[in-house]
Amino acid sequence: MRHAAADPVALFSGHYVNVRAPRAGDLIAAQLRESGLVTVDGLHSRQDMLDLASQLMAITPHPHSAPDGLTLIRDTGSHAHRAGFAGLGSGDLQAHTERSGVPRPPRLMLLACLRPAPMGGDVLLADGRDVHARLVRSCREAAVTFAQPRTAYFGSGAGHATQVITAHADGRISIRLRQDGLARWSPIAQPYLPRLRSAITDSQHRITLQAGQGYLLDNHRWLHARTRFSGDRQLLRALGEPHFSLPEGFAPRPWAAPLATMARRCRT
Ligand SMILES: [Fe+2]
Repeated sequence: MRHAAADPVALFSGHYVNVRAPRAGDLIAAQLRESGLVTVDGLHSRQDMLDLASQLMAITPHPHSAPDGLTLIRDTGSHAHRAGFAGLGSGDLQAHTERSGVPRPPRLMLLACLRPAPMGGDVLLADGRDVHARLVRSCREAAVTFAQPRTAYFGSGAGHATQVITAHADGRISIRLRQDGLARWSPIAQPYLPRLRSAITDSQHRITLQAGQGYLLDNHRWLHARTRFSGDRQLLRALGEPHFSLPEGFAPRPWAAPLATMARRCRT
């Protein structure tokens, strides 16, 4: 698999905020508004996670979370082959939005590594702003099509009819995606999936999380993925809504908007 920026150190160090520094909460909020991603360390226990997560967000439960709202992500040995449960296996996970099948996915996701895998289990992160720009550059028609309402259905029977690119009235956009067996596509969107996947692959950055390291992302902007792994890899995840202001969506690159006009046909 090719990736535009595979240096595992660059993305982590480039977005790092010391959560123990004075005014760390303000720094994190500002960086989330600017780039949508913060990397952190020092999260070695469940209590470390709870302390940071509750400082930043109103934690929202997940069907797999414990009563404290945190979810332990590991290979349970029994979930991998059930649709929608691949996260609890050890295989590759394609780029996705957390909880894409609910009407409003949580805005924030904090993930921390308690125990890295002996092999594999790298995190692949793609900035939706880059994905969108690459898609517009390679095939504007694809970007227009993925912004058409209800061109995707994410989730099982109680899922959500939606679209990959949601354009807001102020010109900002949000991204939402899943690519597993619980993603269904309208006939007009389906032909452009290779273009979208190529834009994602070219935008992905790889992080190899060490014990205690983690990341906090804007789940309406960044797509996360995982490589397959072996061993007892353990991560903790918190989902929630920010305690600070975070305008909906993100500003696309100026030349990537507006998308009202169709360009040449470029189905692959
Ligand atoms: Fe996920």
